[in-house]
Amino acid sequence: MTVDYEVTASAPGKMIVLGEHSVVYGKPAVAIAIDKRTVTKVSKCDDFYVNGYRPLAGAHPHIRSIMLDNNISSLSVYGDTTLPTSSGLGSSAALSSSLSLAVRTLYGKDTDKETIARESFEAEWFAQGRASPLDTSTCTKGGGVALNSPEGLGRHLWTIDKAGKTWDVKEIDVPDMTFVIGYTGIHAPTGPIVEKVRKYKEHNKFAADIIDEMGLIALIGMNAMRRNDKEDLGDAMTKNHKLLSILGVSCNELNKLVNATLPYSYGSKLTGSGGGGSMIALTDEPEKVCEAITLRGGTPIIVHTDTEGVRLEENTAE
Ligand code: PMV
Repeated sequence: MTVDYEVTASAPGKMIVLGEHSVVYGKPAVAIAIDKRTVTKVSKCDDFYVNGYRPLAGAHPHIRSIMLDNNISSLSVYGDTTLPTSSGLGSSAALSSSLSLAVRTLYGKDTDKETIARESFEAEWFAQGRASPLDTSTCTKGGGVALNSPEGLGRHLWTIDKAGKTWDVKEIDVPDMTFVIGYTGIHAPTGPIVEKVRKYKEHNKFAADIIDEMGLIALIGMNAMRRNDKEDLGDAMTKNHKLLSILGVSCNELNKLVNATLPYSYGSKLTGSGGGGSMIALTDEPEKVCEAITLRGGTPIIVHTDTEGVRLEENTAE
């Protein structure tokens, strides 16, 4: 099926530097947009198509949520990405954010970043069953984003409340630091891992204590990032990884990449929901880190952090 799509938008992926999983429970966290983008094209039509096909019932929950939010039941959507999917790098948040901008542009609605961030967060919540606005706010805003950081650390963007939790979203300056991502090649959908942590936390006081401790480590790391102190930030990242492992969201492949990169890094940890997906290392020796990742079967990506958030690429609907 050939379609002349009317609106095209794109949004970047992200890496979580500190605080995944604990952020779902309102703890502090920080993420940075990465220069790999998801491109979404939309046009009006009289049915619902994704990449030229009618989706099965229940498939594409992020897309359905955004359609529902915009009171539309028919749409032709095309999505493409340079992000590996289910990799902990925010492919679903980038899809939600870019789709929200594309649909809202197509229908002449408000397209300010706060509106896009809120709508794409609702899509993540709908698809995952539970989520934080960290991924969607970062993919929407671009650059560095902190949630629930202390007073004076970052500039306020918006506040999001959901299910008794409040997240204060701030933009932060990202110092000149080099991160390398290592992708394990293992697909690990976010929803089931978030649910596993929820059950663990509900039934076990120890899990709740780990989540509290991850919040404290994220605060220490954020302050180190503000001081451009790579030693202390790296230390916080490695501690964060250990706590995530105890929480049961790491896996052998991630631990292998983290351990292999530590000798050349200030710190190293899994990033995103875990269970596969990706890890990140903060380093001054990116080539050595890339080699260590490749030798263990991972795919290295050197991160460029000065990345623009969601943006309109083309609009022929006007
Ligand atoms: O794996 P990703 O890219 O979907 O990141 C998930 C981050 C979590 O903290 C585990 C969930 C969330 O919504 O914040």
